[in-house]
Amino acid sequence: MILADWIALFIRWFHVIAGIAWIGASFYFVWLDNNLREPPKWKKDKGIKGDLWAVHGGGFYEVAKYSYGPEEIPKTLHWFKWEAYATWLSGMLLLFWIYYAGAEAYLIDQSVNELSKIDAIMYGLLFIFGGLGIYELACRSKLSQSPIVFAIFLVLFLCFSSWLASQLYGGRGAYIHVGALIGTIMAGNVFFNIIPSQRLMVKAVTEKAPIDPAWGAGAKLRSVHNNYLPLPIIFIMISNHYPMTYQHPQSWLVLVAIAAVSAWIRHFFNLRHIGVFKPSILVSGAAGMLAIAIWVSWPQLQQSTPKTEAVSIPTVTQAELTTVIDKHCVSCHAKAPTDDIFKAAPMGVMLDTWQDIEKWAGKIHHRTVFTRDMPFLNKTGMTDEEREVVANWYHHYQKTAE
Ligand code: HEC
Repeated sequence: MILADWIALFIRWFHVIAGIAWIGASFYFVWLDNNLREPPKWKKDKGIKGDLWAVHGGGFYEVAKYSYGPEEIPKTLHWFKWEAYATWLSGMLLLFWIYYAGAEAYLIDQSVNELSKIDAIMYGLLFIFGGLGIYELACRSKLSQSPIVFAIFLVLFLCFSSWLASQLYGGRGAYIHVGALIGTIMAGNVFFNIIPSQRLMVKAVTEKAPIDPAWGAGAKLRSVHNNYLPLPIIFIMISNHYPMTYQHPQSWLVLVAIAAVSAWIRHFFNLRHIGVFKPSILVSGAAGMLAIAIWVSWPQLQQSTPKTEAVSIPTVTQAELTTVIDKHCVSCHAKAPTDDIFKAAPMGVMLDTWQDIEKWAGKIHHRTVFTRDMPFLNKTGMTDEEREVVANWYHHYQKTAE
């Protein structure tokens, strides 16, 4: 188990680093393309169509984009594909290592869907590769001729897949599958289209044959997608820390809403690179995020504040609360957990003693009453009445602590 944790740590670490290299390079090239300016005549005569100068890290850089290609393909030509493949491979490895090998602990939520381990994994793979298949078919169909039509298709596709994932698994498992699907589509864009069309271009330049504009057009559509999708996918990567999102009753809609607003914000930067400054996009994006935050958290805020002081909230003794915590939490949250999966207290939260409980009071309340995602996948079967005990206790506790 300890070894498994270390392996997970190294894969996750690698995955994030590879992802930074991939998205970083991809953002950089989008930026480059958008910032290329008309070159002086002597460069144009050499076949250069875009010119760019930059200063960075102790030197000046000159970048030139050719309309056709260099006279001869240089010995070292950088491709930028392994960043994408390494990110995807390590991501899939993580999915298998954490969510599939540990499906009982991380993936299957009995209250959503009573799946066997094998079924949970089969559905997951079907979801990811089936989704990739639908996207690839759409890219090759008539849909791809109009960017607007395709964008609408993509939004509907994302809505449907998020909803479907939420019918299969609990919030976390659903989010990670939507993330895996988007990541697979992005890596697929590189593998199935962008790199093959680059190969054709290199071959054409080597043989001094003409370049078919269709190669670039297909790659362009997919590059545009890969430019907007990183923001949603990075949100999914960090969403694990924010149960108010994946634990929401309409978690799939929260995901779609955040994804849409984040892509809209990315649009601001894309326009800015080409010299169009539209602060209205940023302002409406921020307003959208605020609206999402209010929509998600307002009901919980209302629930947690008693309407009037006259409503008497029963007091809860130390012993009563400790009984609930002992029954439902300490199998994982203890100095020496007895849980079959978690052998070290998750996130360092230990609840063995009363001092410990007081130390974590706010978070205990938050995760059992607000977001209700503790006990983890409700493994210990905590009831609503028991959550009520925590809520009532915290209500009085907060008062005395003030
Ligand atoms: C099956 C094991 C398990 C049980 C039982 C369990 N937890 Fe957790 N808990 C976890 C895991 C795993 C995490 C870390 C993942 C996360 O943050 O979502 C966690 C995280 C937490 C955190 C987050 C700490 C932070 O810094 O954000 C709190 C608080 C918490 N649990 C409280 C509880 C309470 C209270 C109970 C009992 C009602 C409970 N847990 C029962 C596994 C468990």
